[in-house]
Amino acid sequence: MFSFQYNFPPDTLNLIDHYEAQTRAAHQTLTGEKMPMTGWLQHPARISEEELSRITETAAQIRDKNDAFVLIGIGGSYIGARACIELLDNHNANKNIDFYYAGFNLSGAYHSALKETLHDKDFTICVVSKSGTTMETAMTFTYFKTLLKERYGARYAEHIYVVTDEMDGLLRREAEEEGYTTFALDKNIGGRYSVLTSVGLLPAAVAGYDINKIIAGAQAAIDAFGSSSLNDNDCLKYAVLRRIAEERLEKHIEIFSAFEPRFSSFLEWLKQLFGESEGKDQKGIYPTSLLYTRDLHAMGQFLQQGRPGFFESIFSVRPKDHAHPFDIQNDIVCRAVKKARADNSTPICTFYFDEINEYAFGYAAYFFEKACAVSCLLTGVNPFDQPGVEVYKAEVKRLSKELLQNDPS
Ligand code: PA5
Repeated sequence: MFSFQYNFPPDTLNLIDHYEAQTRAAHQTLTGEKMPMTGWLQHPARISEEELSRITETAAQIRDKNDAFVLIGIGGSYIGARACIELLDNHNANKNIDFYYAGFNLSGAYHSALKETLHDKDFTICVVSKSGTTMETAMTFTYFKTLLKERYGARYAEHIYVVTDEMDGLLRREAEEEGYTTFALDKNIGGRYSVLTSVGLLPAAVAGYDINKIIAGAQAAIDAFGSSSLNDNDCLKYAVLRRIAEERLEKHIEIFSAFEPRFSSFLEWLKQLFGESEGKDQKGIYPTSLLYTRDLHAMGQFLQQGRPGFFESIFSVRPKDHAHPFDIQNDIVCRAVKKARADNSTPICTFYFDEINEYAFGYAAYFFEKACAVSCLLTGVNPFDQPGVEVYKAEVKRLSKELLQNDPS
């Protein structure tokens, strides 16, 4: 769990109450069950014991039979799982399996190096794609499926796990025809809101984490952040502070910064969640990330004295009694950074984790998914679509067709 603190210039704080009615309305719209693509809101409360056991048992079988696991996906269909696994990495996991990611880039060098790494390992792939048609994922799936066929012959299908739409799509059809093991993603849950479903839970379980605890953390967050009243709900308060930062203080950039390297992919997940949800209709706060103390010796200069168009959301872990001297020093630096920013009138939100574990991950993931959706509704944009992404995709299709016509080989 974490505590949420904020330090905004004093004259802006009385503005919070001005957002009360607007926030209540946004929260009611989100939770009113009429809004499409909100299945993730209650999913952690509704996921069955059977589903959780099936994921855990499948993961145990994957770990028993393989040396390596390759997670294939992009965007919301991959970064949440990676965020979870890397955040928990220091925590007690009994991985017993090498973990790789593929399909989130189109580098030939990256994928052939991965193929080479796998040459003497028994491996399984897990393909995650809601639509089943994403180009990067489809191309990478074909690449590793060929390798599995060469390696395991007719038994190749035993090494393929698929998470995709519960009914539709090419991937769903292929999985059923070829007999891959599948997990269904609800129609009503989009990629970037899917980390607390089998999309994030299966890879987390393969990595050795207790998904029941992740879900317990998310369930606690459903209760903790269920109120429509701004004063009782930190999740709504954070969404409103983002609005105040942008609308009243002209802060158009949010810097997510962390003092632990294991937060690196978590910050990438936040960027993906907020960027793809909020950046539309010529609106939105641009999310970016920094890792401290590394970036204090680079961007630290800019943040203190450069163009002040940003606010900062800081992630830190409270040092325990008898903490490692590095952790004690890290906490001193965190406090010093907060003081320096405050002296400079930079608005800051702080998420102070007591501990990093599965429960805390589930809790935090739910908090940010909900805060993001509310923030979008306050901005007046749909949190759940991504029409801008289609623009470059259409051009990719056109260019690929042109290439095929000119060189059919
Ligand atoms: O968050 C999103 O909706 C997107 O980032 C998708 O997850 C991403 O485009 C991959 O889509 P799909 O799961 O259909 O392959």
